[in-house]
Amino acid sequence: MPRRDDSTVDPKVKLGKKLFFDPILSKTGTVSCASCHKPEHGFADDKPVSDGINGQKGDRNTPTVFNTTNLKFLFWDGRAQSLEEQALGPIKNPKEMGESVKGVLTKLNNDPQYVKEFANAFGQTPIATSHLIHAIAAFERTLISKDSNYDKFVVGDKAALSISAKRGMDLFFGKAMCAACHKGTDFTDGDFHNIGLPITNDVGRSAISITGKDTRKFKTPTLREVANTAPYFHQGQFETLEQVIVYYNAGGGQDGYKDPLKKPLNLNEQEQKDLVEFLKSLSGRQK
Ligand code: HEC
Ligand code: HEC
Repeated sequence: MPRRDDSTVDPKVKLGKKLFFDPILSKTGTVSCASCHKPEHGFADDKPVSDGINGQKGDRNTPTVFNTTNLKFLFWDGRAQSLEEQALGPIKNPKEMGESVKGVLTKLNNDPQYVKEFANAFGQTPIATSHLIHAIAAFERTLISKDSNYDKFVVGDKAALSISAKRGMDLFFGKAMCAACHKGTDFTDGDFHNIGLPITNDVGRSAISITGKDTRKFKTPTLREVANTAPYFHQGQFETLEQVIVYYNAGGGQDGYKDPLKKPLNLNEQEQKDLVEFLKSLSGRQK
């Protein structure tokens, strides 16, 4: 497909993209959404935890923004339920962008170029919170990973997957039971699971649901673009896909709240390599 001419892009999307990359959203003018959600790392961060304003470290790994449009729950613990609701979280978070909504709106309303672009996109001034979050979410909804080798295979290009990746695919959907949780076109059930990672003071979903059975459950992440989004898991506990597979093969850790699905898989070395090859086939043309 030819690249879309910029003039045909929805003005909300164009504006949302500009905002996503603009450090104006942070108190210090130094951190943008893209400082942590780095396009060159699949819109995730290559560090276990990201740097917010004034060099502060976050508590969790920065997930990809790819294929978030269908998610019922956002964040590792699902505390936001729409991209619009999510967008104000990082802006207000004192460790991330540390800015008040009022502060952001004042800066944007004092910027003639932004006022013009928001007026063009929403037909209204002054710029309001709802415009800000709708523009950011409109851009995020365009971040769909597609045309991966896996997608090509699914639509009939049987040569798109190597023999190893194809064996990995069969394991993924079969014996290794990955698709019990990483299901559907986005490779996530959108639900929360405890996969037995070493216990920290992060209790995950149960802090939001106030339900003991959710202890240390985290949202199943998409596996789209996963080869580009290392390190892995909610605190970036693992550096490589190979390490993730070794961990899963052993059945996950010892947490008493661990999901009963997480049992030793008894995959031999070749099968573990095959699974990694399959995961690598999930990176595609980004939009
Ligand atoms: C300082 C680093 C940092 C900045 C800046 C940042 N994020 Fe994030 N983002 C994160 C982290 C860390 C998480 C996961 C936090 C959690 O789950 O508690 C996250 C989660 C998300 C999610 C949820 C993804 C999912 O699968 O649930 C979206 C969407 C998102 N951020 C968009 C944005 C947008 C839009 C901005 C700018 C307004 C932004 N982020 C700024 C680090 C950052
Ligand atoms: C019981 C549900 C479940 C099953 C089965 C499962 N996963 Fe996961 N997966 C998760 C959850 C939940 C996370 C996030 C865990 C966390 O960070 O605390 C995750 C994280 C991952 C990650 C890290 C992604 C990232 O962005 O950090 C990869 C890679 C992965 N899984 C691959 C697999 C593979 C391959 C299999 C099969 C061998 C598998 N998963 C089986 C639920 C599951």
